[in-house]
Amino acid sequence: MTYRTHASGQLGWRLAPRDETPLYELFHGDAFAWLSSAPPSSIHAVVTDPPYGLVEYSESQLRKLKAGKGGIWRIPPSFDGCRRNPLPRFTVLTEKDRVSLRTFFAELSDPLMRALVPGAHVFIATNPLVSYLVYEPFIAAGFEKRGEIIRVVHTLRGGDRPKNAHDEFPDVSVMPKSCWEPWGLFRKPCEGRVQDNLRKWKTGGLRRISPELPFKDLISSAPARGIEREIAPHPSLKPQHFLRQIVRASLPLGEGVILDPFMGSGSTIAAAAACGLRSIGIDANREYVEMAQAAIPRLAGLSPEELRANGAGV
Ligand SMILES: C[S@@+](CC[C@H](N)C(=O)[O-])C[C@H]1O[C@@H](n2cnc3c(N)ncnc32)[C@H](O)[C@@H]1O
Repeated sequence: MTYRTHASGQLGWRLAPRDETPLYELFHGDAFAWLSSAPPSSIHAVVTDPPYGLVEYSESQLRKLKAGKGGIWRIPPSFDGCRRNPLPRFTVLTEKDRVSLRTFFAELSDPLMRALVPGAHVFIATNPLVSYLVYEPFIAAGFEKRGEIIRVVHTLRGGDRPKNAHDEFPDVSVMPKSCWEPWGLFRKPCEGRVQDNLRKWKTGGLRRISPELPFKDLISSAPARGIEREIAPHPSLKPQHFLRQIVRASLPLGEGVILDPFMGSGSTIAAAAACGLRSIGIDANREYVEMAQAAIPRLAGLSPEELRANGAGV
């Protein structure tokens, strides 16, 4: 496996010989700055899990997360021996936050439209509370909405009784217990028919699971845990079992480059590497880029049996 690492947009060090195309490249820097200088029509798919509270990955909020109190991150109460992972407090978003989120995704979708080849797909993780703030700017930027991938994931989020009034309202939940995570699926319009676009740009469709089975929009996927979390202790780690299915589907002919502009610990890049697909990862936080450098080869090296033994898919 060969890869290159770039620090703040500069070529850092690389393991790939000069004439060899690396399997993946990692950049430390701002995704928007990177995208503004990306060559037009150079990326074939995007698979990403962006920041949502906008502020949740700011230095002050990350300090509060590490301290275990205050800020947008909440540590849900644990019970039955289950440790619950920190979650950003999306329900406290104000109107100003909502405007900022819309602006964030408008500023993301415009340069993505330019950097992507015709027919390129975008898979973008979201949640049922804020997905509309992602989808509208993507459609306004000219993307076609091609559906949603429903990740069936049984977290311990939601379903709680009214705070400090549990005994008074024992039969009431404030919100449904969350059992799914939507991933918006968008496509840059094709040039001509899908078959023309596939020939010219290698994009436009989704890779089938097998000749008999098309890619499906419902995927059962347990939260990342155990060995994956030990390898990549990012607060928003996504599981390999799920990401490998998504990245594989994103390049219909297995050719081209997948971008994750918000790679965190590099789980998308690792999934692409495990599938033998080329990718580029960016993160603004140096600590996470270093985490990704170390984690990617180890995550990519986990076999399907090891992922199953780790509880994947259930
Ligand atoms: C939800 S996390 C992604 C986690 C990833 N799915 C994983 O499995 O590790 C979002 C990431 O976006 C990064 N980020 C936030 N703003 C950014 C920006 N403007 N440019 C690049 N990365 C950014 C954060 O540092 C964070 O690691």
